Amino acid sequence: MPVQIIVGAQWGDEGKGKIVDHLSENADIVARYQGGANAGHTVVVPTADPGGVTSREYVLHLIPSGIFHKHVTCVIGNGVVLDPVALLTEIAQLRELGIPVGGRLLISHNAHLIMPYHKLLDSIREQGNQKIGTTGRGIGPAYIDKYTRTGIRVVDLLDRDILSKKLKRNIEENNQLLSKVYHSKKLDVDAIIHEYQEFDKLIDEYVTDTSLFLNNALKRKKKILAEGAQGALLDVDHGTYPFVTSSSPTSGGACTGLGIPPTSINSVVGVVKAYSTRVGNGPLPTELENEIGERLRKTGGEYGATTGRPRRCGWLDLVSLRYSIRINGIQKIAMTKLDVLDDFDEIRVCTRYRANGKNIENFPTDLRTLSLVEPVYRTFKGWKAKISGVRSYSKLPPRARAYLEAIASGLGTKVWMVSVGARRDQTLVAR
Ligand code: GDP
Ligand code: IMO
Ligand code: MG
Repeated sequence: MPVQIIVGAQWGDEGKGKIVDHLSENADIVARYQGGANAGHTVVVPTADPGGVTSREYVLHLIPSGIFHKHVTCVIGNGVVLDPVALLTEIAQLRELGIPVGGRLLISHNAHLIMPYHKLLDSIREQGNQKIGTTGRGIGPAYIDKYTRTGIRVVDLLDRDILSKKLKRNIEENNQLLSKVYHSKKLDVDAIIHEYQEFDKLIDEYVTDTSLFLNNALKRKKKILAEGAQGALLDVDHGTYPFVTSSSPTSGGACTGLGIPPTSINSVVGVVKAYSTRVGNGPLPTELENEIGERLRKTGGEYGATTGRPRRCGWLDLVSLRYSIRINGIQKIAMTKLDVLDDFDEIRVCTRYRANGKNIENFPTDLRTLSLVEPVYRTFKGWKAKISGVRSYSKLPPRARAYLEAIASGLGTKVWMVSVGARRDQTLVAR
């Protein structure tokens, strides 16, 4: 049972890219199972200079974070909504930097395509009353088409007649809304068909039945990492609805998003940032709209990897994390960005909520209750030491270890890995 699922346990941007890159060293396949180019996964890789001391940062939106390990095959599963423009840009950037993609990237023929009108519809919806603060990548509208069964899949690119029929129908259906942006101008169906058929030629070499590929790999005992995008609290079912994304980043999404059976799952790792962040709208119970929040943002470089928006920051929230562990089946956590807390005199952790004079132990996902909750904090003394150079768990300052151990105990789970910087060598494995 060699599938390990890596999920974001908070509101995204936990450092999944870094952890997946780290784990890829011992994996054969890394597969994305949901979301699209709304994701921004940062991987910092050493450059090939003789001393090997410098490194380079890459931000991946669609290609799995295993791509920097040459022995790894990367899969974009059927659950992903694929933007061909973003994909081809990413492939070209990687090629330019000497990272070969040919023969190492597979794309599901059943993945749905992001079409130009999805991005327009995304921006139109955001002009309405309920502003989610989406990434504007057309994700929600593409999943709407998928679930109303009008979506266009990678496989549809093969047949000009089917493609043109589906496109004409979709554009006509959406024209009323689209005319708000396009005024009297109409989308040019023929130009879009031509554009997407050109994409087909360029991506054809990667397209296959990825579910079959993965199941064959399972038979051959290959090690597969399923890379979640976004985070559990942005899950369309389990997140802070409606302030969520439109897919299932939780571990359950890996099976449907890749076409692999639940019985193939071996373990679930939750990536947890040492504090909380959220980009876009919606509840963030521990948010600090003060100088501490600003300090976390500055020290942690908390600006979106996809949109550049400042991320909202706050203390770590064990109530939401216990929920995340429960719905994902997280067995161990990878704690990232611990170094960001180096200079704080005091570090707080929310252990429970209170609302209407009562304790709330379980994370409420309805907005009304969430709007009432007050976090209750436990305060830790800061370690006030630079830990980015520490290379083993036992060498962490005692106060940093106490912080990690209190979190593990408050969550009832193991801290498996601790990240003290964005680079590969800044990753400690706790025994
Ligand atoms: P993802 O979407 O979950 O992959 O996370 P992002 O890439 O959007 O955001 C994480 C950011 O934190 C990136 O800029 C990473 O390079 C950086 N990062 C990851 N781990 C660490 C760490 O342990 N310490 C510090 N200081 N930065 C980290
Ligand atoms: P990674 O994989 C953080 C947020 C958006 C918005 C909501 C819906 O890098 O962790 P969408 O464009 O998906 O319809 O937007 O979800 N969001 C993310 N926040 N990290 C992400 O991805 C996100 N992808 C979407 O900001 O609030
Ligand atoms: Mg990100």
